[in-house]
Amino acid sequence: MRKKIVAGNWKMHKTCGEARELVLAVLAGLSESLRQRADVIFCPPFTALDTVSELVKGQPTVFSGAQNCHWAASGAYTGEVSAPMLRACGASYVIIGHSERRQYFHEDDALLAQKVEVALQHGLRPIFCVGEPLDVREASGHLKWVEQQLQLGLFDLNADQFAQVVIAYEPVWAIGTGRVATDGQAQEMHAHIRSLVAHRYGTAVAQRLHILYGGSCKPSNAAGLFSQPDVDGGLIGGASLAAEEFLGIIHAC
Ligand code: PGA
Repeated sequence: MRKKIVAGNWKMHKTCGEARELVLAVLAGLSESLRQRADVIFCPPFTALDTVSELVKGQPTVFSGAQNCHWAASGAYTGEVSAPMLRACGASYVIIGHSERRQYFHEDDALLAQKVEVALQHGLRPIFCVGEPLDVREASGHLKWVEQQLQLGLFDLNADQFAQVVIAYEPVWAIGTGRVATDGQAQEMHAHIRSLVAHRYGTAVAQRLHILYGGSCKPSNAAGLFSQPDVDGGLIGGASLAAEEFLGIIHAC
């Protein structure tokens, strides 16, 4: 049985002080039974990563992660942040390939594969995001679309490297829109992803892989999504910004 994971992607929200307040409120609500049911990952902006990492330090089921990293370990890249810097800040995870990065920052599959590689080299576990836009879904091209993203972004990794990866399926049409995938749509895609992984890396690796759902996940719809056999938790945007809502989703695990 895979343990659930609930990750909060705060995007460009929360100052350091607000981050501290939110993490402390969530930690206060995490009972022992919730901690046994789900691992929790906070992904604040870079500026709050150090603060959040300190707060979760020593808590075996709670982690911090970044929302992005550069493809190089260091260099003349003004304004950028590298994987070893994130690791030194205490981050355990890094989100790579979020659709907002793909769309607004023109990150393509080849670049994302480099980011995954550098993250792994420096001890960070990638949360690799895939997902189709609405027109692709409407033309029934979603399974093929995600297959291509996995092939180009992840499938050059060896099995040891791949074992460190978490995948998040986030249909672009569901992110921040209030339009959530149905339980059936999520399960169909998650099962598809797991079978592609089984084909590439074998059944044992595929069975251990965590595949999170993301896109308008809330306390009211999380239980249905999380009860699907191949949905191993969620990557939560808007609903991760308030302790009560985020805890409500963790309760659904
Ligand atoms: P949302 O975002 O939960 O606000 O839809 C999810 C995400 O972008 O990771």
